[in-house]
Amino acid sequence: MIKSYWQNYINGSYVDGGAGRMVVDNPADGSQLAEVALANARDVDAAVAAARAAHEQGYLRKLRPVERGRIVRKMGDYLLEHKERFADILTLESGKPYWEAVIEIEGSARYFEYYGNQAETVEGKSIPLGDAYFDFTTYEPLGISAQIIPWNYPVEMTARGVAAALATGNACVVKSPEQDPLALSLLGEAAEAAGLPKGQLNILCGTGIEAGAALAGHPDIDQIVFTGSVGTGIAVAKAAASHVTPAVLELGGKSAAIVMPDADIDNLVESVRWGIFFNAGQVCSAMSRLILHKDIHDETVEKITALADSLSVGPGTERREFGANMGAMVSEVQRDRAENMVAEAAQQGATIATGGHKLNRPGWFLEPTIVTDVTPDMTIAREEVFGPVLSVLKCDDVESGISIANDSEYGLVGGIFTQDVDKANKAAQQIRAGQVFINEWFAGGVETPFGGFGKSGYGREKGREALWNYVQTKNIAYRLR
Ligand code: NAI
Ligand code: MG
Repeated sequence: MIKSYWQNYINGSYVDGGAGRMVVDNPADGSQLAEVALANARDVDAAVAAARAAHEQGYLRKLRPVERGRIVRKMGDYLLEHKERFADILTLESGKPYWEAVIEIEGSARYFEYYGNQAETVEGKSIPLGDAYFDFTTYEPLGISAQIIPWNYPVEMTARGVAAALATGNACVVKSPEQDPLALSLLGEAAEAAGLPKGQLNILCGTGIEAGAALAGHPDIDQIVFTGSVGTGIAVAKAAASHVTPAVLELGGKSAAIVMPDADIDNLVESVRWGIFFNAGQVCSAMSRLILHKDIHDETVEKITALADSLSVGPGTERREFGANMGAMVSEVQRDRAENMVAEAAQQGATIATGGHKLNRPGWFLEPTIVTDVTPDMTIAREEVFGPVLSVLKCDDVESGISIANDSEYGLVGGIFTQDVDKANKAAQQIRAGQVFINEWFAGGVETPFGGFGKSGYGREKGREALWNYVQTKNIAYRLR
């Protein structure tokens, strides 16, 4: 049982929303789970004003960075102490298996640990200007960081941005996703447990069109981080530009793995399991295209089809232990969209090797799906499905594999599976993407910078590189004589 009505968290208080309430459903059966307060533009104003007051008051910004870092780390400790509660709620609202929800909460805690540790590493430098001057740089927080959060990893994406923003001394306003805003709103508790002053972290739910747009175009925010679709990203960037607000955009992808005949195919199958079926494929950096060398095509398709068929699909609450299973998709809209894209691929000449259908039961389930005979011109090879749907293409050699991989407006991640170092290096240099995986999809971590080329967005999250999203450089020059 979870509480039936969830409020917004503004200036340290839990408050109703000016736009009323919205139902949050349970993707495992479509039932109503709870209601959430819906913020309107005035609530956004209140949250931004609270963040401004906290920033001006300056408690966090003026702390010695090690102390600031400890506060951020405590938020992560709180998540770990309450891991089961966070994961239970996240499972219910998002549809993901409980064990995946646990991984998300642990991953969220890891961001607080990592950025807490980085707080005292943000150092300026001294620039020599000759005898008559003493010159140095400092990094000041931007002020108010606005975070518009997607529904695929609601807690983890919030943690990623908020941890870096707080570690560098900013205040935050978070707009949670309509589909699964509940678990992330518990971060308000973590903020209080860690001793953040009121207003330093504000969390509100609202529709994209009302609260999201009001936040993105707010004249008093200093920075915005958005993760989601290309269309919405463009709208956010335009709104931000109207006030010269810097933005970081992470807009998904159509990322490809290239497989050469010398690859360890069992190892590849393990990467396919995670690459396209983790979180039911609702991952911006999913391995949504698999480009197989013609010599190992049939054998590999057989193995990945068996993998897809081995996954048991059903309610996340019943899938408690790590295993060969998958949960529901986040919403009926997303599930139906993915199912329709598979049907359209079949019409365009692709073969459904397995899956492609919704399950014959309530809830937003889609079978793990492998689509073969996909050609680069097909819609399914070009557009993001954002579901458990793998498109398989064929190549003749590493060059043609790379050119198919690069035939995309996106450029988030990419990968190659081969034992041949020359081929791996060639792919690493030539794949147009912000991150290249060699022999393991998702190789990397919180420590490694993440972000896209092309329409996958701009700016980088994760790693030390993301710290610079949240600070502005000030150069100070003394004339000595
Ligand atoms: P979306 O991009 O519309 O929503 C993401 C966030 O933006 C939500 O919090 C939403 O409330 C907010 N938003 C919506 N309109 C806004 C506006 N005008 N101004 C400011 N904020 C706004 O994505 P949606 O509709 O949920 O999913 C559609 C597709 O987007 C998916 O099928 C997938 O392809 C892609 N997507 C990619 C994600 C990623 O991780 N890169 C995450 C979520 C969706
Ligand atoms: Mg839901």
